[in-house]
Amino acid sequence: MGKKMILLLIFGVLAAYYIYTPLPDNIEEPWRLMWAWFAELLGISHFMDILQFFMSLREVPVRSDENVTVMQTTFNNVPVRVYVPKRKSEILRRGLFYIHGGGWCLGDAAFLNYDFLSRRTADRLDAIVISTNYRLAPKYHFPSQFEDVYNALRWFLHQDVLEKYGIDPERIGVSGDSAGGNLAAAVAQQLIEDPDVKIKLKIQSLIYPALQTLDMNLPSYREYPHFPVLPKSLMVRFWSEYFTTDRSLEKAMLFNQHIPVESSHLFKYVNWSSLLPEKFRKGHVYNKKSLLTVRQRFLRQAME
Ligand SMILES: *[C@@H]1O[C@H](CO)[C@@H](O)[C@H](O)[C@H]1NC(C)=O
Ligand SMILES: *[C@@H]1O[C@H](CO)[C@@H](O)[C@H](O)[C@H]1NC(C)=O
Repeated sequence: MGKKMILLLIFGVLAAYYIYTPLPDNIEEPWRLMWAWFAELLGISHFMDILQFFMSLREVPVRSDENVTVMQTTFNNVPVRVYVPKRKSEILRRGLFYIHGGGWCLGDAAFLNYDFLSRRTADRLDAIVISTNYRLAPKYHFPSQFEDVYNALRWFLHQDVLEKYGIDPERIGVSGDSAGGNLAAAVAQQLIEDPDVKIKLKIQSLIYPALQTLDMNLPSYREYPHFPVLPKSLMVRFWSEYFTTDRSLEKAMLFNQHIPVESSHLFKYVNWSSLLPEKFRKGHVYNKKSLLTVRQRFLRQAME
């Protein structure tokens, strides 16, 4: 009973915190986060499953409108939605392969916002849009997400598939947002080295992509650690769920202590002191040495 009371109290405090946090309109995420966190605390369900449940309430069925024909099919056993403009075209069209976001744990091509985006893109760009799904964490970990997306993309890039949809093989792009941006960048790079795929991408367009997990203490993480919709703790949870069910990775990432000393040469790739424009760096200084010193202190404490 005592424990439940404390949980309720915490829930109340969090509720108050979220109510008084100023947010743009239409953002309901904090409530969902709170419910998910609470349900997990009570052992009712996995955090991500609750969030995914809330998101699934906003999925829309496959339906065409006056400008775009929408179809559901599979590419290499991966479910995809295809958006084809209805107006006649004299020439071969552009093709866009889109990968939804959601921290590798959430989301679906059927989600209202993604359906809307794909529909609009198809209509405005007069392009065929393929909006792919992929298996999600926590049930599936890396590299399942990557593999699904890559398999679907490889299927799409077959000459006969492109012909079927009237797509110009010279004008194909890949795009994605957030975790989808991460996957888009990953498949684009893999494709360059794939001798089996003859038709290559012309462009990659990454929308607020998640591109590195070496340093979890970038200036934006320092400036806005608790800012909804995506507080640092949630981003760290997404990354760690993508890799493993072992929650100790999440803890290490929160303290930025997840990169083994042997791999510290990789830090040079995230030196944001040279990569970020001045205005985003603010007063923060990238310091590889301090990353490692803190790490050693952390390891010592962990061993004691
Ligand atoms: C279809 O296209 C027309 C002309 O651009 C536009 O006015 C209309 O709103 C579009 N319909 C939908 C459902 O987007
Ligand atoms: C990061 O880049 C800056 C600017 O180029 C450089 O001065 C600094 O030494 C680099 N830091 C590390 C740890 O490599």
